[in-house]
Amino acid sequence: MTPENIFNQFAYEGEVASIKPLGEGFINDTFIVRTTGDTPDYILQRKNHNVFPDVPAMMDNIVKVTAHMKAKIIRAGGDPLRESLTVVFAKDGLPYYFDAEEGNYWAVCIFIAGSVTIDNATSLDLCFKGGQGIGRFQKMLADYPEPLHETIKGFHNIRFRYEQWDDTLRRDKFGLVKTVQEEIKWVEDRRQQMLDFWHLVEDGSLPMRVTHNDTKLSNILFDKNGDVLCAIDLDTCMSSTALNDVGDALRSYTNTGAEDDRDLSRVSMDIDRFRAYVAGYLSEMKDSLNDCEREWLAFSAIYITFEQVLRFLMDYIDGSTYWKIQYPTHTLVRTQAQYRLLQSMEAQYPQMQAIVRELLA
Ligand SMILES: Nc1ncnc2c1ncn2[C@@H]1O[C@H](COP(=O)(O)OP(=O)(O)O)[C@@H](O)[C@H]1O
Ligand SMILES: [Mg+2]
Repeated sequence: MTPENIFNQFAYEGEVASIKPLGEGFINDTFIVRTTGDTPDYILQRKNHNVFPDVPAMMDNIVKVTAHMKAKIIRAGGDPLRESLTVVFAKDGLPYYFDAEEGNYWAVCIFIAGSVTIDNATSLDLCFKGGQGIGRFQKMLADYPEPLHETIKGFHNIRFRYEQWDDTLRRDKFGLVKTVQEEIKWVEDRRQQMLDFWHLVEDGSLPMRVTHNDTKLSNILFDKNGDVLCAIDLDTCMSSTALNDVGDALRSYTNTGAEDDRDLSRVSMDIDRFRAYVAGYLSEMKDSLNDCEREWLAFSAIYITFEQVLRFLMDYIDGSTYWKIQYPTHTLVRTQAQYRLLQSMEAQYPQMQAIVRELLA
Protein backbone atom coordinates (compact mmCIF):
# COMPACT_ATOMS: atom_id res chain seq x y z
CA MET A 1 0.00 0.00 0.00
CA THR A 2 1.18 3.53 -0.73
CA PRO A 3 1.51 6.10 2.07
CA GLU A 4 -1.55 7.82 0.52
CA ASN A 5 -3.65 4.66 0.88
CA ILE A 6 -2.40 4.09 4.40
CA PHE A 7 -3.11 7.65 5.46
CA ASN A 8 -6.66 7.32 4.13
CA GLN A 9 -7.33 4.69 6.78
CA PHE A 10 -7.05 7.40 9.45
CA ALA A 11 -9.73 9.83 10.66
CA TYR A 12 -7.94 13.03 9.71
CA GLU A 13 -9.40 16.46 9.03
CA GLY A 14 -9.12 18.31 5.74
CA GLU A 15 -7.75 17.41 2.31
CA VAL A 16 -4.32 16.00 1.59
CA ALA A 17 -2.06 18.30 -0.44
CA SER A 18 1.17 16.23 -0.29
CA ILE A 19 2.90 13.36 1.53
CA LYS A 20 6.68 13.48 1.74
CA PRO A 21 9.38 11.54 3.65
CA LEU A 22 10.86 13.41 6.60
CA GLY A 23 14.39 13.07 7.97
CA GLU A 24 16.60 10.02 8.13
CA GLY A 25 14.34 7.70 10.12
CA PHE A 26 16.74 5.56 12.13
CA ILE A 27 13.98 3.53 13.72
CA ASN A 28 10.71 4.44 12.01
CA ASP A 29 9.90 5.67 8.50
CA THR A 30 8.39 9.10 8.95
CA PHE A 31 6.29 11.10 6.45
CA ILE A 32 4.89 14.59 6.70
CA VAL A 33 1.36 14.98 5.37
CA ARG A 34 0.42 18.53 4.36
CA THR A 35 -3.25 19.42 4.06
CA THR A 36 -4.85 22.31 2.17
CA GLY A 37 -6.35 25.26 4.05
CA ASP A 38 -6.46 25.62 7.83
CA THR A 39 -6.63 21.98 8.87
CA PRO A 40 -3.63 20.54 10.71
CA ASP A 41 -0.71 18.81 9.00
CA TYR A 42 0.16 15.30 10.15
CA ILE A 43 3.03 12.95 10.85
CA LEU A 44 2.56 9.44 9.40
CA GLN A 45 4.94 6.78 10.71
CA ARG A 46 5.62 3.16 9.91
CA LYS A 47 6.49 1.67 13.27
CA ASN A 48 9.51 -0.59 13.33
CA HIS A 49 8.06 -3.98 14.19
CA ASN A 50 11.50 -5.51 14.86
CA VAL A 51 12.36 -2.99 17.53
CA PHE A 52 8.84 -2.90 18.99
CA PRO A 53 7.36 -6.40 18.93
CA ASP A 54 4.01 -5.30 20.39
CA VAL A 55 2.89 -2.14 18.57
CA PRO A 56 -0.72 -2.24 19.90
CA ALA A 57 0.63 -2.23 23.50
CA MET A 58 3.04 0.57 22.60
CA MET A 59 0.24 2.68 21.09
CA ASP A 60 -1.98 1.98 24.11
CA ASN A 61 0.77 3.40 26.35
CA ILE A 62 1.06 6.50 24.15
CA VAL A 63 -2.71 7.12 24.07
CA LYS A 64 -3.01 6.85 27.86
CA VAL A 65 0.01 9.00 28.61
CA THR A 66 -0.92 11.77 26.16
CA ALA A 67 -4.54 11.81 27.41
CA HIS A 68 -3.28 12.32 30.96
CA MET A 69 -0.98 15.15 29.91
CA LYS A 70 -3.66 16.86 27.80
CA ALA A 71 -6.14 16.98 30.68
CA LYS A 72 -3.48 18.66 32.77
CA ILE A 73 -2.47 21.13 30.02
CA ILE A 74 -6.11 22.15 29.52
CA ARG A 75 -6.59 22.69 33.28
CA ALA A 76 -3.52 24.94 33.27
CA GLY A 77 -4.91 26.98 30.35
CA GLY A 78 -2.30 25.69 27.88
CA ASP A 79 -2.66 24.44 24.31
CA PRO A 80 -3.03 20.63 24.32
CA LEU A 81 -2.28 20.39 20.59
CA ARG A 82 1.12 22.06 20.97
CA GLU A 83 2.29 21.06 24.43
CA SER A 84 1.72 17.35 23.88
CA LEU A 85 1.75 14.84 21.07
CA THR A 86 -1.77 14.15 19.71
CA VAL A 87 -2.57 10.65 18.44
CA VAL A 88 -4.94 10.47 15.46
CA PHE A 89 -7.04 7.29 15.43
CA ALA A 90 -7.79 5.09 12.44
CA LYS A 91 -11.35 5.10 11.08
CA ASP A 92 -12.01 1.75 12.80
CA GLY A 93 -11.28 3.36 16.17
CA LEU A 94 -7.82 1.86 16.77
CA PRO A 95 -4.80 4.11 17.45
CA TYR A 96 -2.85 2.44 14.59
CA TYR A 97 -3.48 0.77 11.25
CA PHE A 98 -2.15 -2.69 10.44
CA ASP A 99 -1.29 -3.22 6.79
CA ALA A 100 -1.80 -6.99 6.60
CA GLU A 101 -0.37 -7.23 3.07
CA GLU A 102 3.08 -6.07 4.11
CA GLY A 103 2.83 -6.80 7.83
CA ASN A 104 3.48 -3.21 8.86
CA TYR A 105 1.97 -1.10 11.61
CA TRP A 106 1.31 2.60 10.95
CA ALA A 107 0.40 5.46 13.26
CA VAL A 108 -0.51 9.12 12.80
CA CYS A 109 -0.14 12.15 15.02
CA ILE A 110 -0.74 15.86 14.53
CA PHE A 111 2.26 17.77 13.20
CA ILE A 112 3.07 20.53 15.67
CA ALA A 113 3.28 23.57 13.41
CA GLY A 114 6.11 26.04 13.79
CA SER A 115 8.12 23.65 15.96
CA VAL A 116 11.88 23.38 15.75
CA THR A 117 13.99 20.22 16.13
CA ILE A 118 17.62 20.44 17.25
CA ASP A 119 19.79 17.38 16.67
CA ASN A 120 22.71 17.87 19.04
CA ALA A 121 23.25 19.55 22.39
CA THR A 122 26.13 21.77 21.28
CA SER A 123 25.87 24.25 24.17
CA LEU A 124 25.27 24.22 27.92
CA ASP A 125 21.97 26.00 27.29
CA LEU A 126 20.83 23.08 25.11
CA CYS A 127 21.94 20.58 27.78
CA PHE A 128 19.78 22.48 30.26
CA LYS A 129 16.81 22.44 27.86
CA GLY A 130 17.25 18.73 27.18
CA GLY A 131 16.93 18.13 30.92
CA GLN A 132 14.00 20.49 31.14
CA GLY A 133 12.16 18.72 28.30
CA ILE A 134 12.40 15.28 29.90
CA GLY A 135 11.83 16.71 33.39
CA ARG A 136 8.62 18.38 32.24
CA PHE A 137 7.40 15.17 30.60
CA GLN A 138 8.02 13.19 33.82
CA LYS A 139 6.47 15.91 35.96
CA MET A 140 3.22 15.99 33.98
CA LEU A 141 3.00 12.24 34.52
CA ALA A 142 4.22 12.13 38.13
CA ASP A 143 0.66 11.39 39.28
CA TYR A 144 -0.15 8.92 36.49
CA PRO A 145 -1.93 6.13 38.35
CA GLU A 146 -1.48 2.75 36.63
CA PRO A 147 1.44 0.70 35.31
CA LEU A 148 2.04 0.77 31.55
CA HIS A 149 2.71 -2.20 29.26
CA GLU A 150 6.31 -3.35 29.47
CA THR A 151 6.99 -2.96 25.74
CA ILE A 152 10.73 -3.63 26.02
CA LYS A 153 11.42 -6.50 28.41
CA GLY A 154 14.10 -6.14 31.06
CA PHE A 155 14.91 -2.56 30.07
CA HIS A 156 17.81 -1.23 32.20
CA ASN A 157 17.36 -4.19 34.56
CA ILE A 158 20.91 -5.16 35.49
CA ARG A 159 19.83 -8.43 37.17
CA PHE A 160 18.40 -9.54 33.83
CA ARG A 161 21.53 -8.30 32.04
CA TYR A 162 23.82 -10.28 34.35
CA GLU A 163 21.78 -13.42 33.61
CA GLN A 164 22.37 -12.86 29.88
CA TRP A 165 26.01 -12.05 30.62
CA ASP A 166 26.58 -15.32 32.54
CA ASP A 167 25.04 -17.28 29.65
CA THR A 168 27.24 -15.47 27.15
CA LEU A 169 30.43 -16.26 29.07
CA ARG A 170 29.38 -19.88 29.52
CA ARG A 171 28.60 -20.32 25.81
CA ASP A 172 31.70 -18.46 24.60
CA LYS A 173 30.45 -19.08 21.06
CA PHE A 174 33.51 -17.77 19.24
CA GLY A 175 36.23 -18.47 21.83
CA LEU A 176 36.67 -14.75 22.48
CA VAL A 177 36.44 -14.90 26.28
CA LYS A 178 40.17 -15.55 26.70
CA THR A 179 40.97 -12.46 24.61
CA VAL A 180 38.97 -10.01 26.76
CA GLN A 181 39.89 -11.03 30.30
CA GLU A 182 40.69 -7.49 31.39
CA GLU A 183 37.39 -6.15 30.05
CA ILE A 184 35.46 -8.99 31.71
CA LYS A 185 36.98 -7.98 35.03
CA TRP A 186 35.51 -4.46 34.60
CA VAL A 187 32.06 -6.02 34.53
CA GLU A 188 32.67 -8.56 37.30
CA ASP A 189 34.24 -6.04 39.71
CA ARG A 190 31.04 -3.98 39.71
CA ARG A 191 28.50 -6.80 39.93
CA GLN A 192 27.56 -6.34 43.58
CA GLN A 193 27.46 -2.55 43.42
CA MET A 194 25.14 -2.55 40.41
CA LEU A 195 22.83 -5.25 41.78
CA ASP A 196 22.62 -3.30 45.06
CA PHE A 197 21.42 -0.27 43.13
CA TRP A 198 18.84 -2.29 41.20
CA HIS A 199 17.62 -3.72 44.50
CA LEU A 200 16.36 -0.21 45.35
CA VAL A 201 14.05 -0.49 42.34
CA GLU A 202 12.99 -4.02 43.26
CA ASP A 203 12.07 -3.12 46.84
CA GLY A 204 10.21 0.04 45.79
CA SER A 205 12.60 2.56 47.37
CA LEU A 206 12.97 3.97 43.85
CA PRO A 207 9.35 4.24 42.67
CA MET A 208 8.00 3.34 39.25
CA ARG A 209 7.08 6.37 37.18
CA VAL A 210 6.28 7.09 33.57
CA THR A 211 9.60 7.50 31.81
CA HIS A 212 10.42 8.47 28.23
CA ASN A 213 13.37 6.15 27.59
CA ASP A 214 14.67 7.85 24.46
CA THR A 215 15.96 11.13 25.81
CA LYS A 216 17.80 12.48 22.74
CA LEU A 217 17.53 16.21 22.14
CA SER A 218 15.93 15.50 18.73
CA ASN A 219 12.97 14.03 20.62
CA ILE A 220 12.16 17.39 22.20
CA LEU A 221 10.36 20.03 20.16
CA PHE A 222 11.11 23.73 20.62
CA ASP A 223 9.09 26.79 19.69
CA LYS A 224 10.44 29.62 17.54
CA ASN A 225 11.93 31.36 20.59
CA GLY A 226 13.89 28.25 21.46
CA ASP A 227 11.73 27.34 24.45
CA VAL A 228 10.77 23.72 25.13
CA LEU A 229 7.36 22.77 23.70
CA CYS A 230 7.12 19.06 24.47
CA ALA A 231 8.74 15.64 24.30
CA ILE A 232 7.86 13.56 21.22
CA ASP A 233 8.77 10.05 19.99
CA LEU A 234 6.92 8.36 22.85
CA ASP A 235 7.35 4.84 21.41
CA THR A 236 9.50 3.75 24.33
CA CYS A 237 7.52 5.34 27.19
CA MET A 238 6.97 2.84 29.96
CA SER A 239 6.95 2.45 33.74
CA SER A 240 10.47 2.58 35.12
CA THR A 241 12.59 4.51 37.58
CA ALA A 242 12.86 8.21 36.76
CA LEU A 243 16.60 7.87 37.16
CA ASN A 244 16.93 5.71 34.04
CA ASP A 245 16.00 8.69 31.87
CA VAL A 246 18.45 10.93 33.68
CA GLY A 247 21.30 8.42 33.58
CA ASP A 248 20.83 7.59 29.92
CA ALA A 249 20.70 11.26 28.94
CA LEU A 250 23.83 12.04 30.97
CA ARG A 251 25.67 9.15 29.33
CA SER A 252 25.27 10.75 25.92
CA TYR A 253 25.00 14.49 26.67
CA THR A 254 28.17 14.67 28.78
CA ASN A 255 30.57 12.58 26.68
CA THR A 256 33.35 14.77 25.20
CA GLY A 257 34.24 11.99 22.74
CA ALA A 258 32.31 9.67 20.45
CA GLU A 259 30.63 6.47 21.61
CA ASP A 260 33.05 4.51 19.43
CA ASP A 261 36.08 6.78 19.80
CA ARG A 262 39.38 5.01 19.14
CA ASP A 263 41.23 7.89 20.75
CA LEU A 264 40.44 7.38 24.42
CA SER A 265 42.08 10.67 25.35
CA ARG A 266 39.07 12.39 23.78
CA VAL A 267 36.57 10.55 26.00
CA SER A 268 35.53 11.98 29.37
CA MET A 269 32.52 13.27 31.26
CA ASP A 270 32.17 17.06 31.01
CA ILE A 271 31.11 18.19 34.49
CA ASP A 272 29.66 21.47 33.20
CA ARG A 273 27.34 19.60 30.86
CA PHE A 274 26.45 17.35 33.78
CA ARG A 275 25.51 20.38 35.85
CA ALA A 276 23.51 21.98 33.02
CA TYR A 277 21.49 18.84 32.26
CA VAL A 278 20.73 18.09 35.91
CA ALA A 279 19.81 21.76 36.54
CA GLY A 280 17.32 21.63 33.65
CA TYR A 281 15.86 18.34 34.83
CA LEU A 282 15.53 19.45 38.44
CA SER A 283 14.00 22.79 37.40
CA GLU A 284 10.94 20.65 36.64
CA MET A 285 11.23 17.51 38.78
CA LYS A 286 12.82 18.77 42.01
CA ASP A 287 9.63 18.71 44.09
CA SER A 288 8.41 15.37 42.72
CA LEU A 289 11.43 13.23 43.65
CA ASN A 290 11.60 11.26 46.87
CA ASP A 291 14.70 11.13 49.10
CA CYS A 292 16.03 7.93 47.57
CA GLU A 293 15.74 9.32 44.04
CA ARG A 294 17.55 12.48 45.14
CA GLU A 295 20.32 10.51 46.76
CA TRP A 296 20.93 8.25 43.74
CA LEU A 297 20.43 10.77 40.96
CA ALA A 298 24.15 11.28 40.27
CA PHE A 299 24.80 7.54 40.42
CA SER A 300 22.25 6.93 37.66
CA ALA A 301 24.80 8.20 35.10
CA ILE A 302 27.30 5.61 36.31
CA TYR A 303 24.68 2.86 36.35
CA ILE A 304 23.49 3.41 32.78
CA THR A 305 27.01 3.90 31.43
CA PHE A 306 28.09 0.69 33.15
CA GLU A 307 25.12 -1.16 31.66
CA GLN A 308 26.25 0.00 28.24
CA VAL A 309 29.79 -1.30 28.86
CA LEU A 310 28.30 -4.68 29.79
CA ARG A 311 25.99 -4.74 26.76
CA PHE A 312 28.73 -3.79 24.30
CA LEU A 313 31.13 -6.39 25.67
CA MET A 314 28.43 -9.06 25.74
CA ASP A 315 27.55 -8.37 22.11
CA TYR A 316 31.20 -8.50 21.12
CA ILE A 317 31.65 -11.91 22.78
CA ASP A 318 28.40 -13.10 21.14
CA GLY A 319 29.73 -12.23 17.66
CA SER A 320 28.70 -8.57 17.21
CA THR A 321 25.15 -9.09 16.03
CA TYR A 322 23.19 -6.29 17.74
CA TRP A 323 25.07 -3.10 16.84
CA LYS A 324 26.12 -2.56 13.24
CA ILE A 325 29.89 -2.82 12.85
CA GLN A 326 32.26 -1.20 10.37
CA TYR A 327 35.24 -3.38 11.33
CA PRO A 328 35.58 -6.65 13.31
CA THR A 329 36.54 -5.11 16.68
CA HIS A 330 34.13 -2.16 16.42
CA THR A 331 32.02 -3.23 19.39
CA LEU A 332 35.13 -3.95 21.47
CA VAL A 333 36.26 -0.39 20.71
CA ARG A 334 32.82 0.80 21.82
CA THR A 335 33.26 -1.18 25.05
CA GLN A 336 36.62 0.45 25.75
CA ALA A 337 35.40 3.97 24.94
CA GLN A 338 32.35 3.53 27.13
CA TYR A 339 34.52 2.19 29.92
CA ARG A 340 36.72 5.28 29.69
CA LEU A 341 33.59 7.41 30.13
CA LEU A 342 32.58 5.27 33.11
CA GLN A 343 36.00 5.75 34.73
CA SER A 344 35.74 9.50 34.20
CA MET A 345 32.35 9.52 35.92
CA GLU A 346 33.58 7.38 38.79
CA ALA A 347 36.52 9.74 39.33
CA GLN A 348 34.19 12.75 39.39
CA TYR A 349 31.43 11.14 41.46
CA PRO A 350 32.03 13.28 44.59
CA GLN A 351 31.70 16.48 42.50
CA MET A 352 28.60 15.10 40.76
CA GLN A 353 26.98 14.43 44.11
CA ALA A 354 27.92 17.88 45.39
CA ILE A 355 26.30 19.49 42.33
CA VAL A 356 23.07 17.53 42.80
CA ARG A 357 22.95 18.47 46.50
CA GLU A 358 23.54 22.11 45.65
CA LEU A 359 20.81 22.13 42.99
CA LEU A 360 18.37 20.45 45.36
CA ALA A 361 19.04 22.84 48.23
N1 LIG B 1 4.26 15.70 16.05
C1 LIG B 1 5.34 16.24 15.47
N2 LIG B 1 5.40 17.56 15.19
C2 LIG B 1 6.49 18.09 14.58
N3 LIG B 1 7.57 17.38 14.20
C3 LIG B 1 7.57 16.06 14.45
C4 LIG B 1 6.48 15.42 15.11
N4 LIG B 1 6.75 14.10 15.22
C5 LIG B 1 7.97 13.93 14.67
N5 LIG B 1 8.47 15.09 14.21
C6 LIG B 1 9.78 15.28 13.54
O1 LIG B 1 10.19 14.05 12.95
C7 LIG B 1 11.42 13.57 13.55
C8 LIG B 1 11.39 12.06 13.67
O2 LIG B 1 10.27 11.65 14.45
P1 LIG B 1 10.42 10.67 15.70
O3 LIG B 1 9.05 10.41 16.21
O4 LIG B 1 11.43 11.22 16.65
O5 LIG B 1 10.94 9.34 14.97
P2 LIG B 1 12.28 8.48 15.10
O6 LIG B 1 11.86 7.28 15.91
O7 LIG B 1 12.63 8.15 13.71
O8 LIG B 1 13.31 9.29 15.84
C9 LIG B 1 11.49 14.33 14.89
O9 LIG B 1 12.82 14.45 15.37
C10 LIG B 1 10.86 15.67 14.52
O10 LIG B 1 11.78 16.49 13.85
MG1 LIG C 1 13.25 10.52 17.43
